[in-house]
Amino acid sequence: MLTYYFITNKENIQLARDEAIALITAYNPNAEIISKERLLIVNSNKDLKQVWDRAAMLRYAGRSYDKVDLKTFACKVINLTDNKLDQRYYIDKFVKEMNLKNAKVSLNNPDVVFGIIIADKEYRCILLSKNNKKLLKLHKHPAELVNKLAILMINLSGVIEDEILLDPCCGTGTIIMYASYMGINSIGCDISMKMCNYTRDNLEVNNLSASIINCDSTRLPIKRTDVMVSNLPYGRASSTYKRDSKELIKQIIDECNMARRIVIMCKEGDEPEYIKSYTIYVHSNLRRKIVICR
Ligand SMILES: C[S@@+](CC[C@H](N)C(=O)[O-])C[C@H]1O[C@@H](n2cnc3c(N)ncnc32)[C@H](O)[C@@H]1O
Repeated sequence: MLTYYFITNKENIQLARDEAIALITAYNPNAEIISKERLLIVNSNKDLKQVWDRAAMLRYAGRSYDKVDLKTFACKVINLTDNKLDQRYYIDKFVKEMNLKNAKVSLNNPDVVFGIIIADKEYRCILLSKNNKKLLKLHKHPAELVNKLAILMINLSGVIEDEILLDPCCGTGTIIMYASYMGINSIGCDISMKMCNYTRDNLEVNNLSASIINCDSTRLPIKRTDVMVSNLPYGRASSTYKRDSKELIKQIIDECNMARRIVIMCKEGDEPEYIKSYTIYVHSNLRRKIVICR
């Protein structure tokens, strides 16, 4: 059994926690999760490194250790309390207790970085490094999603490798690109042939693949998907093709009834029935809703 420590960003703690929990339960439904504000302590009999590699809203991740064989190390004190702490005190105490006298401190590429988490008590772990990459985009669009929000929405759906994700309004393909990069079978649809071609080009430049279909998603030509994740049209820059955006969203969601989970972004006031919704500041004065419909 391993213990993982996941620490959220300071902003949007609830959303960050929900993202982490969706990923943890997707990779191990039997994991035991103890939630303490920004800190999630997770006991798992399965590897959860993917949670850290995928998460958009986590700041740090670490895991427990028994013995460590190392020549060089570094320590990072992560203070989750409101108090100012003497970091040197915690590092000196840690080095003494771990008997690390034969290992050297190295801030450049150490064998191990220890995390000393100060919360309701002190937790110690090995901090995990992150494997992720910013994908290239040949084509952009004024209504495209920022990468971080695309990743967050995919993660909230709890989809994992080899399952199917559908984005029925894929635009330039941000969601499809990141889902495909995560090893998820991805299907993107868009009513605009130009957008479909943009998505194809954006996939190709990153050596990624997905099925891209030019169609009206109120009449989808596909029968199966595990989840639906989409940034749906708002009108203005992201055209609804003269349809009422709220009605269009409702129709597209009805058409995706085979999906076990639906996560969308829409403008405030357009939300369909939902189990959870979050307000997101896309930029200073533009607010959007991320909605988990089911
Ligand atoms: C907000 S944009 C999606 C942006 C995308 N997430 C990105 O990062 O580029 C909405 C897209 O929905 C498409 N769309 C509008 N009505 C549609 C319909 N009935 N069926 C399929 N796609 C539609 C538009 O062509 C547009 O590309």
